[in-house]
Amino acid sequence: MPFHDMLVDRYGGIVKIRGFFGTEQLYISDPRALQSIILKDQESFDETSVFLETNKVIFGPGLVSTAGHQHKRQRKIVFPVFSVAHLKGLTPVFYEVAERVGAFTAPTFSNVLADVIDTEASRNEDSVIDMADWMARAALETVGQTILGYSFDPLDSPHNNQYTSAIKDLIPTLFKLSLVRQLAPFLTRLGSRDFRRTLVEWTPVPAVQAVKGMSDVMYDTARGLLRQKQEEVKRGVVQDRKSVIGALLKANDEASAADKMDEDELIGQITVLIFGAQDTTASSLTRLLHTLSLHPEVQDKLRNEVAEAVSEGGRLEYDAVMSLPWLDAVLKETMRLYPPVPFVRRTTLKEQAVPLADTSNLPAQIKDAGSVTIPAGTIFFTSIAGANRLESVWGGDAREWKPERWLQGDRAAVTGVERLPGIYSGIMSFLGGERACVGYKFAQLEIKILLVTLLQRFRFAPTKQNGEIVWNLSQILSPSVRTQDGKERKGMPLGVERVI
Ligand code: HEM
Repeated sequence: MPFHDMLVDRYGGIVKIRGFFGTEQLYISDPRALQSIILKDQESFDETSVFLETNKVIFGPGLVSTAGHQHKRQRKIVFPVFSVAHLKGLTPVFYEVAERVGAFTAPTFSNVLADVIDTEASRNEDSVIDMADWMARAALETVGQTILGYSFDPLDSPHNNQYTSAIKDLIPTLFKLSLVRQLAPFLTRLGSRDFRRTLVEWTPVPAVQAVKGMSDVMYDTARGLLRQKQEEVKRGVVQDRKSVIGALLKANDEASAADKMDEDELIGQITVLIFGAQDTTASSLTRLLHTLSLHPEVQDKLRNEVAEAVSEGGRLEYDAVMSLPWLDAVLKETMRLYPPVPFVRRTTLKEQAVPLADTSNLPAQIKDAGSVTIPAGTIFFTSIAGANRLESVWGGDAREWKPERWLQGDRAAVTGVERLPGIYSGIMSFLGGERACVGYKFAQLEIKILLVTLLQRFRFAPTKQNGEIVWNLSQILSPSVRTQDGKERKGMPLGVERVI
């Protein structure tokens, strides 16, 4: 991350860098260029073929593997499944999710999680708990229950389950294969599907075998659940439990023949949704707890706000959770300053001139034009993290964590002269345009419900006893503890103290 930050800080909004095999690439955070790339001229840009082809191999033909007409067709069906109306219907599932068969009587998912954390805190003498691990499990279970109506992890023991570990390791393992992935567009054209499968099976590289195993688990799980759901629909015995998969099947049934997704596409969608919702949300939740532990005064404000709202009506409904001002401000500000996905890559499908807000560091020719022409086939980084802390957008205090900037409304938060095309209050963390995150409202709801419940019961404090917390970049940021001898181990231990 420091390297990425340095690129923006030292060289500005558009930077030429060298990629694999010495290719010339760009690193872009200029707000006007992003308006062009993400919104205005988005037809000229798309995901790289390396990204699309690798995702197709791992997840199947879901939203992150398709482009052009197929992507548009799929989005038309998937995006509405995450509308506010649907999320309102899902809210009880977020709450009910941990209603374990007869195990708990006041069962909101987060309460159950809180119960387990509580048990672990009392077991652990100094109440230091790895909250990164817990947030990963919480995110997977929420996603399992809300998207599939399925439990991955009963969350009743301090031990992680196999699926969570597998899915958690996918991104770091893929990161190790970055070089090989450059060949994906070529390798995926080799022979038949069976031939390629055999080739993968023969490849004596542990990281390749690990990814194959993870992909198989995801595929088998999604296919099994999809078929089970379809069977239930056919027999008319669907338990009327709201889930994204149910809404997705319904939307697909109602789509025109030309738009309908086939089984492979549906499996791809389910896997991509589970995966897209897992690490990102876990990373955000962990970052929020970490940040709140470093700002105890804001943590207390939030706790008081929640206590007041809850005392009025017990369990908070969708509108009430979503409109708590400090909670909303803390989430926005943390997502702005610490985006879990700090960049995405793009390629130029056809030559495109993009305007620039700041040409001060650039050659005279570009200065005069006020724009730069990006040749077709150029690969570039869209810097989410860079854009999210631009002074020209957020004002002179852009690099400070100041949730209060959001308290007077979204417009007041943007005090600079430039604007970003982010779907989430102008923040780039969920991107924007036709590739914007489909789950951005879902993620907000999930994060807010978990925070509301955890903060009512616990105070989180930093702990130095195990070393310093560092955030590592492997596409999605995740925390590690760096001990005094320089060794790192994944996780984020926090002091957890009961407040009620
Ligand atoms: C805080 C949590 C989340 C963050 C920061 C996040 C961030 C992002 C970003 C940056 C993209 C654009 C990726 C690209 O263009 O290469 C994206 C796309 C996507 N996200 Fe999320 N996401 C989050 C949660 C979720 C959730 C909860 C779901 C599903 C329930 C989800 C599903 C997806 C899908 C399917 C796409 C692909 C959209 C497309 O290409 O059409 N995400 N997300």
